[in-house]
Amino acid sequence: MAGFELISFPLYEAESGTLSVYEQGAGLRFDVKRVYCITQLNPGSTRGHHAHRELQQIVVCLSGSCVFTLDDGTERVDIPLSSPSTGLYLSGRIWREMSEFTSNCVLMVMTDAVYSEADYIRDYETFLEEVKN
Ligand code: TYD
Repeated sequence: MAGFELISFPLYEAESGTLSVYEQGAGLRFDVKRVYCITQLNPGSTRGHHAHRELQQIVVCLSGSCVFTLDDGTERVDIPLSSPSTGLYLSGRIWREMSEFTSNCVLMVMTDAVYSEADYIRDYETFLEEVKN
């Protein structure tokens, strides 16, 4: 499936703790315009259920784990995320759903644009029509 890629970021592990770095030239694919975090995730819940029209994103699971289900209108793939050294790069029209959150799951999302509700496709039938055309 096109429209996603797993990126490796540097990780410095020590007995005292772990440091991860997200830097231009070392994994970042674009100039970051916005960072948001999703915390206090309910293990039984799901999120996402949308696609973006133009937005590029890199999702990093800073703590715990979860599963991203990606759908390009033809096929679906499950991507487990569980490390601050792994970024899930998403671009183009990819429907995404997040699930299987551990109670300590913390997600950080870096994007190439400021928030715009107009960039969201929140209806699955509209998504299918847009990827067909
Ligand atoms: P949404 O992107 O739907 O979250 P998720 O994909 O994790 O389910 O956003 C949830 C709500 O937060 C929605 O009402 C829009 C708002 N929001 C902002 O105001 N600014 C932002 O940068 C983001 C990502 C969301």
